[in-house]
Amino acid sequence: MIRVVEPQAEPGLASGLADVLVDCVEGGASVSFMAPLSHARARVFWEGVIDSARRGERLLLVAEDEAGVMGTVQVVLDLPENQPHRGDVAKLLVHRRARGRGVGLALMRAAEDAARAAGRTLLVLDTASIEAARIYTRLGWERLGVIPNFALLPFGGYCATTFFYKALA
Ligand SMILES: CC(C)(COP(=O)(O)OP(=O)(O)OC[C@H]1O[C@@H](n2cnc3c(N)ncnc32)[C@H](O)[C@@H]1OP(=O)(O)O)[C@@H](O)C(=O)NCCC(=O)NCCS
Repeated sequence: MIRVVEPQAEPGLASGLADVLVDCVEGGASVSFMAPLSHARARVFWEGVIDSARRGERLLLVAEDEAGVMGTVQVVLDLPENQPHRGDVAKLLVHRRARGRGVGLALMRAAEDAARAAGRTLLVLDTASIEAARIYTRLGWERLGVIPNFALLPFGGYCATTFFYKALA
């Protein structure tokens, strides 16, 4: 099940999201953090994200099953005043236990719907993940180009990032 996190306290949510982030970093994903990423540090990161979502600065979506959080994505809404129609998609993450079942695609569809409902008509993102890029292409995102050596991989070495945008109908 995929849902947008509501602005109320949810005990355990930051911890469940931290499980997903730690798993992605251990799996070698370039998602802002270097390895090793402790669960405590990841939880602090997510507590900040949840607070930001409560302030209305971003939409936070989570995908859950009976074992807990299996994936997440965000749409950042807190942009300069001359870009009120735009959102930045960030941190599409699916735990390795739940990959290859359409969770990532469903999260992105839900993120687009939530952004549209929030009045946004243009979304932008960048990704170092070939798997994620296939999802964006499948959903009709326009691929802009690649910046080499954009970030570090969690265990070292540079990776490129590819920028995409999508105009929401
Ligand atoms: C990128 C990422 C989010 C994709 O998540 P996912 O849930 O595995 O994505 P999906 O299941 O929707 O799609 C993955 C593949 O599974 C396939 N798939 C989807 N449902 C399926 C099913 N029921 N049976 C078999 N295959 C299926 C999709 O067709 C897709 O295949 P393709 O890549 O060959 O086209 C995940 O790999 C991840 O978290 N990576 C690490 C973090 C990262 O780098 N994120 C990107 C940040 S921008």
